[in-house]
Amino acid sequence: MSKILGVAASPRKDKSTHFLLGECLAEIQNTSTKLTKPLKTELLSLAGKQINGCIACGKCKKGVLCSQKDDFQEIIPILSDPELRGIVMATPVYMGSMTAQAKAFLDRTVLFRRNDFLFKNIIGGVLTVGGSRNGGQELTIQAVHAAMLIHDMILVGDGLHFGGTAWSNHPDGYEADETGVETARLTGKRLAEVAVLMG
Ligand SMILES: Cc1cc2nc3c(=O)[nH]c(=O)nc-3n(C[C@H](O)[C@H](O)[C@H](O)COP(=O)(O)O)c2cc1C
Repeated sequence: MSKILGVAASPRKDKSTHFLLGECLAEIQNTSTKLTKPLKTELLSLAGKQINGCIACGKCKKGVLCSQKDDFQEIIPILSDPELRGIVMATPVYMGSMTAQAKAFLDRTVLFRRNDFLFKNIIGGVLTVGGSRNGGQELTIQAVHAAMLIHDMILVGDGLHFGGTAWSNHPDGYEADETGVETARLTGKRLAEVAVLMG
């Protein structure tokens, strides 16, 4: 069964980023089931993981390998799964862009590009959450989209704009940010629609 992987790049588990990603993955299952081609989803949390920045050693030019002995090693097989059809990257906005965890993760995925563009035609969507309503969510989506395009992935937004743009400091809690939660769900819907179209 084809799989969509959600990557939560917040250092805090069980906060707004993980919540939004859960909503998005649930919608992927819901939409794909309605379209009678159910997709499997998996949530990979980077919280607590040690993922260093790329050191440009070049080892990955010799195969799907990485010289650094950190937690990215256990992620390589997850990303190498032949059933992988899509990746949803969910990140908090830090200083107007993605978290260091998200950037380190994306930089380390260069090994898939260097090995016959293994992410080519994988569908990509992005969810962001900021402490401010307009704190850089769209800029952050663009930054992640750039990395996805460098992989030759196929991008989806939320069907209206760029992807998930949520606000964690909603006075009634992040779950009450109906607009933001809806953009996360709609990004999941688009991802599922395109995955089903692609078979
Ligand atoms: C170092 C740092 C920088 C931040 N920069 C921004 C920012 O530029 N814009 C914004 O809207 N929120 C910013 N925030 C707030 C986070 O985006 C917000 O708390 C978000 O909900 C964190 O996700 P989480 O709930 O998964 O921890 C920043 C938080 C930290 C810790």
